[in-house]
Amino acid sequence: DEDGYDLWLRYRPLEQAAQARVQSQARSVVLPGAPSPTSQAALDELHKALTGMLGRAPAPSARISDGALLLATPARLQELGAAASPLRAELSALGNDGYLLRQTRIQNHNVTLIAANTDIGLLYGAYAWLRDANTGAKLEASSAPTLQLRLLNHWDNLDRTVERGYAGQSIWDWWALPDIKDQRYTDYARANASLGINGTVLNNVNSKPEVLTAPFIAKAAAVADVLRPYGIKVYLSARFSTPLELKETSTADPLSPEVRAWWQRKADEIYKSIPDFGGFLVKANSEGQPGPQDYHRTHADGANMLAAALAPHKGIVMWRAFVYAPKGTHLNDDRAKQAYDEFKPLDGQFAANVLVQVKNGAIDFQPREPFHPLFGAMQKTPLMMEFQITKEYLGFSTDMAYLGTLFEETLETDTKTAPQGRTVAQTLSGIAGVANIGSDRNWAGSHFDQANWYAYGRMAWNPQAKARDVAVEWAALTFGPRTVTPVVDMMMMSRETVVNYMTPLGLHHIMGTGHHHGPAPWVDNLERPDWNPVYYHRASRDGIGFDRTAKGSNALEQYAPEIARQFSDPKTTPPQFLLWFHHLPWNYAMPSGRTLWAELLAHYDQGLADAKSLRARWVALKPLIDPRRYSEEEQRLNRQVANATLWRDACVAYFQSVSGLPLPAGVQPPA
Ligand code: GCU
Repeated sequence: DEDGYDLWLRYRPLEQAAQARVQSQARSVVLPGAPSPTSQAALDELHKALTGMLGRAPAPSARISDGALLLATPARLQELGAAASPLRAELSALGNDGYLLRQTRIQNHNVTLIAANTDIGLLYGAYAWLRDANTGAKLEASSAPTLQLRLLNHWDNLDRTVERGYAGQSIWDWWALPDIKDQRYTDYARANASLGINGTVLNNVNSKPEVLTAPFIAKAAAVADVLRPYGIKVYLSARFSTPLELKETSTADPLSPEVRAWWQRKADEIYKSIPDFGGFLVKANSEGQPGPQDYHRTHADGANMLAAALAPHKGIVMWRAFVYAPKGTHLNDDRAKQAYDEFKPLDGQFAANVLVQVKNGAIDFQPREPFHPLFGAMQKTPLMMEFQITKEYLGFSTDMAYLGTLFEETLETDTKTAPQGRTVAQTLSGIAGVANIGSDRNWAGSHFDQANWYAYGRMAWNPQAKARDVAVEWAALTFGPRTVTPVVDMMMMSRETVVNYMTPLGLHHIMGTGHHHGPAPWVDNLERPDWNPVYYHRASRDGIGFDRTAKGSNALEQYAPEIARQFSDPKTTPPQFLLWFHHLPWNYAMPSGRTLWAELLAHYDQGLADAKSLRARWVALKPLIDPRRYSEEEQRLNRQVANATLWRDACVAYFQSVSGLPLPAGVQPPA
């Protein structure tokens, strides 16, 4: 249990007072009527959890008595004579997925009620009640998600390697499927359902034609069967040229009748095995992937063709806006502009069952990016947010970086677009997180990386959730109540620590070539200019930073006028984005009174100091953490200090070689 396999569903024995409280709410568990697979999953989870927390199994019961934990939908409530209660009205506002938890009286008994309109709502309610029971939080009144699509995206290949995966092999054992369904699939479903995640794309966006052949459809169907009771739909990444590469058509042109008919047949075939198949995720005309532009068609032509094939089955297309084509027009200009330039003119042209999926920032999952200008700009197209839970650019699964703060920062930003300003969260119809899940015993590569999966799921359910509150929950569920405050303090400082030692003040994309781990700001000889770190930091004797104002690439004009105006002046640009938008002289005066050069050095020093502080804080917790998890994290924090040291020394040495400026007094040049 200390190997991390149980994630945040550990259900350890509660302390005495908590036991009494939970016991009084769940003397028996009552689900009137015959259970469905989904409500059975809720019963099973409650049984497992209560047994763990209280040391004995709750009495299963068909009848209501005092202290019962009652799970019921409106129809059942009616049968129980609770029909006229105000609960009905409250429930109707909660939609398909919402639930309410209530201490109430039914049939003259005091009960704890978990009520929802559907069985999946009951399952979500059961997990919510368990969360409250475990953390001692007061019973949540009611909750319903604002986003209907809450997905994970696996970048998992069919050979079980995982693109940007740092937690072992893919959990999907394609070879053994469909006959062998690993217990992990069920535990994966439980963990995701506990957060409200309701969809998963099984395979990498850099997809293969094989995944849409009959044998793989059967394998995906077997996974779908396991996930279905937990309310999780299966989706697949589709390679645009699939029919052509399978030699079943002579082209992949989306307007060719032959191609359209092929996709229609393929959709029909998939739905025969997976009646609730979610749909396709597509990466097209990006990083060498095929797409409609190969045939001089637009993204809308491509997406709509697939959408037409899926529409009769109620499937959707999630078409990615992460485009940066090999022969893009922006090679020597600004890669950050390409997605907006390609997609904004297509706003209004996408079919109703197409969503455009946009990364949180316009470059690529950097430790910090300003929000993507497409949020707010695409007023007629439903958008999905794409966050990366796996930490490709934030130190893999060795460095600690809690991403809740990154998610919160992006979601709560005001896009300043009509009608009265909308936060990024308010521009969304769905959300996707690139999974950090693998077959490592602890699923995520490190214990603290489990928190990023958790935070993603909780914030997908409630995009207004606060990163700190989510961290408090996770820490309590994972490490127990006694270490919450110090653990949460570490989590809350961790991402800024990484920003400081990697890419402070708006620097970006200066990581090592290809693998993206460790510093390489000096690299300038890659085949494409926009792969080179020097393209992004633009440091020279005269200064540093990427000028995205009207004097430079003018990427700023892709934002709402109010933001463009504010960020066009370095004095009114938030310092954390300064070098993202401006090229400034080394002696530029910062608000702190320091020169830009001195400020940059101070940030690198701060990053290293904070990495050391994270380690020291963990060492201080040693008596309170079990030895296994203590040691596994301690080793990582040692690595993180080494990594931060390398980052600081390498970046300071490199930028100094370019600026020609002396190091400030007291700073030793690196050996
Ligand atoms: C990044 C990442 C790739 C990935 C791509 C994508 O560039 O490094 O591995 O394929 O994003 O999101 O499509």
